[in-house]
Amino acid sequence: MEIRYCEEKPDLETYYDLRASVDFKNFCPEQSQKALDKRDYFIIAKDGEKAVGMGSVVGDGMYCTIVDVTVRPEYQGNHIGASIVNKLVELIQNNAPEGARLSIQLIAAKGKDGFYKKLGFEALPDENAGPALRKLIYT
Ligand SMILES: CC(C)(COP(=O)(O)OP(=O)(O)OC[C@H]1O[C@@H](n2cnc3c(N)ncnc32)[C@H](O)[C@@H]1OP(=O)(O)O)[C@@H](O)C(=O)NCCC(=O)NCCS
Repeated sequence: MEIRYCEEKPDLETYYDLRASVDFKNFCPEQSQKALDKRDYFIIAKDGEKAVGMGSVVGDGMYCTIVDVTVRPEYQGNHIGASIVNKLVELIQNNAPEGARLSIQLIAAKGKDGFYKKLGFEALPDENAGPALRKLIYT
Protein backbone atom coordinates (compact mmCIF):
# COMPACT_ATOMS: atom_id res chain seq x y z
CA MET A 1 0.00 0.00 0.00
CA GLU A 2 1.55 3.29 -1.12
CA ILE A 3 -0.08 6.27 0.56
CA ARG A 4 0.40 9.81 -0.76
CA TYR A 5 -0.13 12.84 1.45
CA CYS A 6 -1.53 15.83 -0.42
CA GLU A 7 -1.94 19.41 0.82
CA GLU A 8 -5.40 19.65 -0.64
CA LYS A 9 -8.83 20.85 0.50
CA PRO A 10 -11.35 18.01 0.29
CA ASP A 11 -14.48 18.64 -1.74
CA LEU A 12 -17.70 18.39 0.23
CA GLU A 13 -18.44 14.88 -0.98
CA THR A 14 -15.04 13.57 0.12
CA TYR A 15 -15.30 15.44 3.41
CA TYR A 16 -18.71 13.93 4.19
CA ASP A 17 -17.70 10.49 3.01
CA LEU A 18 -14.57 10.35 5.19
CA ARG A 19 -16.44 11.63 8.26
CA ALA A 20 -19.27 9.16 7.67
CA SER A 21 -16.76 6.29 7.33
CA VAL A 22 -15.87 6.74 11.01
CA ASP A 23 -19.48 7.44 12.07
CA PHE A 24 -18.90 11.14 12.69
CA LYS A 25 -22.10 13.17 12.37
CA ASN A 26 -21.99 15.45 9.36
CA PHE A 27 -22.56 19.20 9.54
CA CYS A 28 -25.01 20.97 7.23
CA PRO A 29 -23.63 21.73 3.71
CA GLU A 30 -23.65 25.53 3.97
CA GLN A 31 -21.83 25.42 7.29
CA SER A 32 -19.34 22.81 6.07
CA GLN A 33 -18.34 24.63 2.88
CA LYS A 34 -17.88 27.91 4.74
CA ALA A 35 -15.79 26.17 7.38
CA LEU A 36 -13.58 24.39 4.84
CA ASP A 37 -13.01 27.65 2.96
CA LYS A 38 -11.68 29.29 6.14
CA ARG A 39 -9.22 26.60 7.21
CA ASP A 40 -5.47 27.13 7.19
CA TYR A 41 -4.14 23.71 6.17
CA PHE A 42 -5.36 20.38 4.91
CA ILE A 43 -3.81 16.99 4.43
CA ILE A 44 -5.56 14.27 2.47
CA ALA A 45 -4.08 10.75 2.51
CA LYS A 46 -4.67 8.96 -0.78
CA ASP A 47 -4.37 5.37 -1.91
CA GLY A 48 -4.21 5.89 -5.67
CA GLU A 49 -6.96 8.44 -6.24
CA LYS A 50 -9.03 7.28 -3.28
CA ALA A 51 -9.08 9.57 -0.23
CA VAL A 52 -8.48 7.30 2.76
CA GLY A 53 -7.81 9.86 5.48
CA MET A 54 -7.75 13.57 6.20
CA GLY A 55 -7.08 16.23 8.77
CA SER A 56 -7.10 20.00 8.84
CA VAL A 57 -6.22 23.06 10.87
CA VAL A 58 -8.41 25.96 11.93
CA GLY A 59 -6.24 28.80 13.07
CA ASP A 60 -4.91 32.30 13.19
CA GLY A 61 -1.20 31.56 13.33
CA MET A 62 -1.10 31.61 17.15
CA TYR A 63 -3.87 29.25 18.18
CA CYS A 64 -4.12 26.33 15.79
CA THR A 65 -6.80 23.70 16.25
CA ILE A 66 -6.43 20.33 14.57
CA VAL A 67 -9.81 19.01 13.44
CA ASP A 68 -11.45 16.29 11.34
CA VAL A 69 -8.65 13.74 11.74
CA THR A 70 -10.12 10.62 10.21
CA VAL A 71 -8.76 7.46 8.63
CA ARG A 72 -11.11 4.99 6.94
CA PRO A 73 -11.52 1.96 9.22
CA GLU A 74 -10.00 -0.45 6.70
CA TYR A 75 -6.85 1.73 6.55
CA GLN A 76 -6.44 2.32 10.29
CA GLY A 77 -3.41 0.98 12.14
CA ASN A 78 -0.93 1.82 9.36
CA HIS A 79 0.41 5.08 10.79
CA ILE A 80 -1.68 7.10 8.36
CA GLY A 81 -3.37 9.07 11.16
CA ALA A 82 -0.01 9.78 12.77
CA SER A 83 1.44 10.97 9.44
CA ILE A 84 -1.54 13.28 8.87
CA VAL A 85 -1.22 14.89 12.31
CA ASN A 86 2.58 15.18 12.06
CA LYS A 87 2.29 16.80 8.64
CA LEU A 88 -0.28 19.30 9.92
CA VAL A 89 2.02 20.19 12.83
CA GLU A 90 4.92 20.61 10.35
CA LEU A 91 2.83 22.93 8.17
CA ILE A 92 1.92 25.08 11.18
CA GLN A 93 5.53 25.20 12.34
CA ASN A 94 7.02 25.87 8.90
CA ASN A 95 4.68 28.79 8.33
CA ALA A 96 5.38 30.47 11.70
CA PRO A 97 7.77 33.41 11.89
CA GLU A 98 11.01 33.29 13.88
CA GLY A 99 10.26 33.75 17.58
CA ALA A 100 6.66 32.51 17.36
CA ARG A 101 4.84 30.77 20.19
CA LEU A 102 2.23 28.33 18.93
CA SER A 103 -0.58 26.62 20.77
CA ILE A 104 -1.55 23.56 18.75
CA GLN A 105 -4.68 22.15 20.32
CA LEU A 106 -7.49 19.71 19.70
CA ILE A 107 -10.37 17.88 21.31
CA ALA A 108 -9.68 14.16 21.20
CA ALA A 109 -12.60 11.88 20.40
CA LYS A 110 -13.44 9.51 23.23
CA GLY A 111 -10.65 6.95 23.68
CA LYS A 112 -8.30 8.67 21.20
CA ASP A 113 -6.24 10.72 23.64
CA GLY A 114 -3.61 7.95 23.71
CA PHE A 115 -3.12 8.37 19.96
CA TYR A 116 -2.42 12.09 20.36
CA LYS A 117 -0.21 11.58 23.43
CA LYS A 118 2.02 9.34 21.30
CA LEU A 119 2.43 12.32 18.97
CA GLY A 120 3.55 14.66 21.75
CA PHE A 121 0.26 16.24 22.83
CA GLU A 122 -0.34 16.65 26.55
CA ALA A 123 -3.72 16.33 28.21
CA LEU A 124 -5.20 19.28 30.10
CA PRO A 125 -5.37 20.23 32.86
CA ASP A 126 -1.64 20.44 33.47
CA GLU A 127 0.51 22.47 35.85
CA ASN A 128 -0.11 25.68 33.86
CA ALA A 129 -3.59 25.30 32.42
CA GLY A 130 -7.04 24.27 33.60
CA PRO A 131 -9.32 21.86 31.74
CA ALA A 132 -10.44 22.54 28.18
CA LEU A 133 -14.08 23.67 28.06
CA ARG A 134 -16.65 23.94 25.31
CA LYS A 135 -20.23 24.98 24.70
CA LEU A 136 -22.17 23.20 21.97
CA ILE A 137 -25.00 25.10 20.26
CA TYR A 138 -27.55 23.72 17.79
CA THR A 139 -29.64 25.99 15.55
C1 LIG B 1 -7.72 8.01 15.60
C2 LIG B 1 -7.26 7.66 14.20
C3 LIG B 1 -7.19 8.93 13.35
C4 LIG B 1 -5.89 7.02 14.27
O1 LIG B 1 -5.42 6.79 12.97
P1 LIG B 1 -4.60 5.47 12.60
O2 LIG B 1 -4.03 5.65 11.26
O3 LIG B 1 -5.48 4.27 12.82
O4 LIG B 1 -3.50 5.46 13.75
P2 LIG B 1 -1.94 5.23 13.56
O5 LIG B 1 -1.73 3.91 12.91
O6 LIG B 1 -1.34 6.41 12.89
O7 LIG B 1 -1.47 5.19 15.09
C5 LIG B 1 -0.26 5.80 15.52
C6 LIG B 1 0.07 5.24 16.88
O8 LIG B 1 -1.01 5.54 17.80
C7 LIG B 1 -1.52 4.34 18.37
N1 LIG B 1 -2.95 4.49 18.53
C8 LIG B 1 -3.89 4.54 17.57
N2 LIG B 1 -5.13 4.71 18.11
C9 LIG B 1 -4.92 4.76 19.44
C10 LIG B 1 -5.81 4.94 20.56
N3 LIG B 1 -7.13 5.08 20.39
N4 LIG B 1 -5.27 4.96 21.80
C11 LIG B 1 -3.92 4.82 21.99
N5 LIG B 1 -3.04 4.66 20.96
C12 LIG B 1 -3.55 4.63 19.71
C13 LIG B 1 -1.15 3.24 17.38
O9 LIG B 1 -1.11 1.99 18.02
C14 LIG B 1 0.20 3.72 16.90
O10 LIG B 1 1.17 3.39 17.86
P3 LIG B 1 2.70 3.02 17.47
O11 LIG B 1 3.29 4.28 16.87
O12 LIG B 1 3.32 2.64 18.76
O13 LIG B 1 2.63 1.91 16.46
C15 LIG B 1 -8.21 6.63 13.52
O14 LIG B 1 -8.31 5.50 14.35
C16 LIG B 1 -9.61 7.16 13.26
O15 LIG B 1 -9.85 7.76 12.23
N6 LIG B 1 -10.54 6.91 14.19
C17 LIG B 1 -11.92 7.32 14.05
C18 LIG B 1 -12.06 8.83 13.98
C19 LIG B 1 -11.49 9.52 15.19
O16 LIG B 1 -11.82 9.21 16.33
N7 LIG B 1 -10.62 10.51 14.93
C20 LIG B 1 -9.99 11.31 15.97
C21 LIG B 1 -10.72 12.57 16.10
S1 LIG B 1 -10.15 13.51 17.48
